[in-house]
Amino acid sequence: MLNLREFEAAARAVLDPAHADYFAGGAGDELTLRANEEAFARLRLLPRVLRGGGKQDLAVTLLGSRAALPILISPTAFHKLAHPEGELATARAAAAAGAIMIASMAATTSVGDIAAAARTGAPDGAPLWFQLYIQPDLEFTEILVRRAEEAGCEALVVTVDSPARGAHERDRRNGFTDLPDGLCCENLRDPRTGRVLPIVMSPEITWWHVDWLRRTTSLPLVLKGVLHPEDAGIALRHGVDGLLLSNHGGRQLDGVPATVELLPEIVAAVEGRIPVILDGGVRRGTDVAKALALGAAAVGVGRPVLWGLAVDGERGVGQVLELLREELDHTLTLLGVGGLPGLTPGHVRPAPAAG
Ligand code: FNR
Repeated sequence: MLNLREFEAAARAVLDPAHADYFAGGAGDELTLRANEEAFARLRLLPRVLRGGGKQDLAVTLLGSRAALPILISPTAFHKLAHPEGELATARAAAAAGAIMIASMAATTSVGDIAAAARTGAPDGAPLWFQLYIQPDLEFTEILVRRAEEAGCEALVVTVDSPARGAHERDRRNGFTDLPDGLCCENLRDPRTGRVLPIVMSPEITWWHVDWLRRTTSLPLVLKGVLHPEDAGIALRHGVDGLLLSNHGGRQLDGVPATVELLPEIVAAVEGRIPVILDGGVRRGTDVAKALALGAAAVGVGRPVLWGLAVDGERGVGQVLELLREELDHTLTLLGVGGLPGLTPGHVRPAPAAG
């Protein structure tokens, strides 16, 4: 496989078509899903020349977590649909690459087991973050937080773009409504009853709940899914430590802008006080460079990791991360940039309007 796009076709060849559609699909007409990649394509890179350079250092520290590259694994549900080893394979590959993995609350493996797998991938420690949908049952939400803390997660990523489930027509057409027998969302096991609870996406969650979470844990809090610059400002006032600028890979409200289109406004809104991570449509090292040049502290990738996992388990995820790392390194060299801090908005230009 020469690039991330080639993994999707290879994954489709091995996946149940309904599961491949679940991974690939977006909401509604999939306008936002397509927009994420198209917006990267509309940005041009402008290199500088004769500036020397050398080996690129791609390491970053994000909210205290040290990573070998500015590329995170965005939280995605149900890794065992892609490969029998599921999140364990993803975690080992992420740890070996030194990438931060954000484990989904809807993982098919418990966060404790994911953390243990990450440690086998990198004995010196591998940064793991945990993604959470705040549940109206706050007692259960607190149980989830404590599980993530006990597993050694270094940050909580709170997804706030889901007051309701996205409308995925591919899943409706395929009749894909639930996990096959034998798989479940292990993090949702309720110790009070032993039952696995459904994930509740509730419109009743408000900033009050963010304040509650702020009081409940000392872990850094990252809000995932803030799109409006005014909400970025409000997040700052609520003591949030970082933002993950995301439209859920086009799976929630269809028709919202591509994330990279919003990036300059969100970066301006937080005034450098907290890091902004971006996900959505990142498929090439050039996309990573564009996002970092426009002020992102790092990027996340969702679907390509699932394709890599489907194709070859841990090795497949490792290859996806390695391709992105190599492409980013090569892009920085060709841009005449001696390291990540050298990337500036001046390295990016919009493409001239068509017509
Ligand atoms: C997701 N995403 C997601 N986000 C989240 O906060 N919790 C979750 O459980 C999931 N689950 C999930 C499943 C699948 C199959 C996909 C494709 C996505 C969204 C994810 O974190 C991320 O925002 C997008 O995937 C990023 O876009 P790309 O890289 O897939 O284009």
